[in-house]
Amino acid sequence: MSVTRLKTISETRSCIAAARERGLTVGLVPTMGALHEGHGALVRKAREENGYVVVSIFVNPIQFDRPEDLEKYPRDLDSDIAHCERLGADAVFAPDTAEMYPTQLLTSVAVAGISTRLEGEFRPGHFRGVATVVAKLFNIVPADRAYFGEKDAQQLAVIQKMVADLDCPVSIVPVATVREPDGLAMSSRNRRLTPEQRRIAPLLYQALCEAERLIQTGSSSAAEIKEIAIKVLTQNPAIRIEYLEVVDPATFQAVNTFSRGVVVAAAVWLGQVRLIDNVKV
Ligand code: PAJ
Repeated sequence: MSVTRLKTISETRSCIAAARERGLTVGLVPTMGALHEGHGALVRKAREENGYVVVSIFVNPIQFDRPEDLEKYPRDLDSDIAHCERLGADAVFAPDTAEMYPTQLLTSVAVAGISTRLEGEFRPGHFRGVATVVAKLFNIVPADRAYFGEKDAQQLAVIQKMVADLDCPVSIVPVATVREPDGLAMSSRNRRLTPEQRRIAPLLYQALCEAERLIQTGSSSAAEIKEIAIKVLTQNPAIRIEYLEVVDPATFQAVNTFSRGVVVAAAVWLGQVRLIDNVKV
């Protein structure tokens, strides 16, 4: 069956209401398109767990801190819709910017604390833009479940806190990071790497794996873990480290020593391309 293409909020609301009337549970997969197998894992999981699956595709301008990143963000709606169809999604909600932001936005959702660290520190306003658009999507597509990747662990934590604080009637389902065979986390931005940069990019995950190994063999010193991981990254001068931190998984606050689970998260630049990744230990 072919996927239903939805452009407006009102047709999307009617479509979801009709699915609900048929007794179907609804799964939502929010994306910005340029779909790859990482997104595919979210859609497959949603397909397994729900009667009706909606993928949203919207390159959300208010979460971009750099105009050139927004401008260069890959867009290919026709091929994304074909991909969703192959994955068995029921509908794709792909609004244009005027549909989502018809008038100047005066209301936003800010999750304090967590939003100001790591990604939030280097991309000011980013998580406010993410939380705001996700809150809007939850209101447009009233879903039983919504699917988010652990690739963006801090984003996942921001959304979980927003849903808890605002009693959003949706359960958030985390999905493990999907990687290329050489370990590089799949990302829409990987398309912008040159062949040489693509060859170097797996060092990011290798550094995080080194950190993981050290923690598993008993280290609980963030300084020691960071030193080892940074040594892996600095092997190649083309990599510029933006941050590499050992943080608490709920607050994303950096820890010095720890006795419970942590997330090791990093952001690096390869030329003009910014890559992020993390491991939960
Ligand atoms: P986007 O980067 O398109 O990612 C959409 C979803 O796919 C996110 O939940 C992300 O964590 C997940 N994802 C991306 N790469 C993945 C991988 N390699 N493995 C597993 N999951 C992966 O994240 C966004 O869009 C936006 O911020 C959004 C939530 C849609 C709000 O605009």
